[in-house]
Amino acid sequence: MPTEQGKEQDSSRPAAARVGRRRALLAGGAVLAAGIGAAAGELAADDRADGRATADAPPAAIPFHGVRQAGVMAPQQPATHLLSFDLPRTSAAADRKTLRGVLGALTGTLATVTSDAPPDPRLQGGTTTRLTSLVGIGPSLAARLGLGVPASLTELPSFPGDRLDPRRSDGDLLVQLCAADRWTLTVVAELVGAAAHAAGAVPRWTQSGFMPHTAPGTTPRNLFGSRDGTANPDRTAAEQWVWNPSGAHRNGTVLVYRRIHMDVAGFATLPEAHRDRAIGRRARDGAPLSGTAEHDEPDIYAKNPDGSYVIPATAHVRLASPRFDRGARMLRRSYSYDDGPTDRGLLFCAFMRDPAQFTRVQNRLAARDALNPFLQHRASAVAYVLPGAASAGTLGEQLWT
Ligand code: HEM
Repeated sequence: MPTEQGKEQDSSRPAAARVGRRRALLAGGAVLAAGIGAAAGELAADDRADGRATADAPPAAIPFHGVRQAGVMAPQQPATHLLSFDLPRTSAAADRKTLRGVLGALTGTLATVTSDAPPDPRLQGGTTTRLTSLVGIGPSLAARLGLGVPASLTELPSFPGDRLDPRRSDGDLLVQLCAADRWTLTVVAELVGAAAHAAGAVPRWTQSGFMPHTAPGTTPRNLFGSRDGTANPDRTAAEQWVWNPSGAHRNGTVLVYRRIHMDVAGFATLPEAHRDRAIGRRARDGAPLSGTAEHDEPDIYAKNPDGSYVIPATAHVRLASPRFDRGARMLRRSYSYDDGPTDRGLLFCAFMRDPAQFTRVQNRLAARDALNPFLQHRASAVAYVLPGAASAGTLGEQLWT
């Protein structure tokens, strides 16, 4: 039985606000598929059954406060903006104080801009922006200041083929904003950047991304034309693989971000059957080559009469299969980016308990993924996504224990 996200939120909020959150989740079904797969259909069906779909009233804002930050599991919105910041390096005591100030400033700003009535007139368009956010701490800052983060939070190793630009990578603090439209993100990014800067943080890089609007229950496509996000964990599996289980880090997770350049034109020159074999799924309907429907589990052991694998040895979904990782799954909520005619690709954003899971998968992919001739990893970041803030609380209170 899937857990309802609203139940994980701050129980001190009024009942009306909790209903508002549930409605916001339901209303977001149109863009949920990339985030939590099958759960999308279940929630959308729920909505139809109780007849409360609200064509007349815009859905309520997605609350900022709660035990978990909303930017991880709330319905995936079509636009994203990431902001990375560094803190000045003075003394550990002074830098801890600065960090407290920055987290306080971010909490205040994000709570305000995600509310039903944000004060900035540029956010008062008469319809909800469905803004969600998350704030994370980079591994090097955590180590430098001795912060209370999971022991597994470390920098990623370098992988064969990496061409990482340090000016677009890493950072002490990472903020991800997601919303229904680019306008909202531009305004909110400005407010967030100003608040963080006033509190002592220095901007490092920003990156915007987008994905197609999709019908309810369908998975958005990436720039290669594939459905991307099909095999994501549902909410029950996410409890096992995405969220930290207990103790101070409960309700936190880790975000792995990779900015991956895609040779879209080059991939398009391959015959359709070659492209499908490179992925291990059919682009047309998203079904694995071993199955007939999108949500069929890829059978990586199925063989053709000649003894070859139906899902080829170098197919992306074979190499990324959880079967090689004792069933471990990551929650992928990727976006496309377009930074000019020669630089388009995927902002791979995945949530997991332990970034070592990403390292294991990426080592297999870097060694022999059939997509490799068409991909180049150009930026990278890892961040511990903090537990949420209670209604009177501040993000990051667990860092100081
Ligand atoms: C631009 C680069 C990439 C593209 C175009 C891409 C595309 C895809 C596609 C089309 C699928 C199948 C549909 C789905 O289940 O979502 C998929 C699955 C998957 N990908 Fe990627 N991917 C990319 C990079 C990565 C990276 C860097 C990782 C992790 C290191 C990764 C991990 C996975 C995983 C875990 C699955 C699900 C496998 C399964 O459970 O069947 N992908 N990807």
